[in-house]
Amino acid sequence: MSDSQRTRITWLGHATVLVQTPQGTNILIDPFIAHNPKYPQSFNLPAKIHYVLVTHGHGDHISDAAPVAKKHGATVAAIYELADYLKAKGAPETIGFNLGGTVDLGGTAVTMVDAKHSAGAADEKGTHYVGVATGFVLEIAGGPVLYHAGDTCVFGDMQLIRELHHPQVAMLPIGGHYTMGPKEAALACRLLAPQTVLPIHWGTFPALTGTPEQLAALVAPSVKVVSWVPGGEFLA
Ligand code: NI
Ligand code: MN
Repeated sequence: MSDSQRTRITWLGHATVLVQTPQGTNILIDPFIAHNPKYPQSFNLPAKIHYVLVTHGHGDHISDAAPVAKKHGATVAAIYELADYLKAKGAPETIGFNLGGTVDLGGTAVTMVDAKHSAGAADEKGTHYVGVATGFVLEIAGGPVLYHAGDTCVFGDMQLIRELHHPQVAMLPIGGHYTMGPKEAALACRLLAPQTVLPIHWGTFPALTGTPEQLAALVAPSVKVVSWVPGGEFLA
């Protein structure tokens, strides 16, 4: 398969991931840019971003959603209440959907799946209810199935995600403190059975101590844990 037929996944630090499909659809997940200490400053986002997906309302996942949507002409897709909140914050177009629902985003079937985490959105007026925490499964047309877990602990229903979607590539938080760490993520790998794990939500702040090496030491040899740095990419 040539590179142009592959799906390009670029890690922009923390939980921020750019997915570029062979169909030419650019999807940015959980944009945390201006205040992300590990954002690769030399990286230029594509001029056109078609969709911004956000997993939950915490600032380290949504703070640049509306600005990116305005600047790059993106439609923001998220759980219903969060989509509404981001519309009020200036996102020009939004798609509100909910757990178990699937939307077609430029040839990619995106299903909203469970996550276990809190999800309020804080601004100068306080903390707002913006739905629950979610993850996303992205089924790329003619390509791989990707899973972005958002912020979560390990949970048994990851097995349902495996049964329903068979994700080959799992983007899992491993930093600990606010999400699962390597030990829990290793169990998540047993439940999900991905070929490849792309570790996210680690190394951003001192409290996030989990590393890809710690995870790699705990998973079956059949699971490839990619040790990448912000700005790094993976072709799926
Ligand atoms: Ni969070
Ligand atoms: Mn987070």
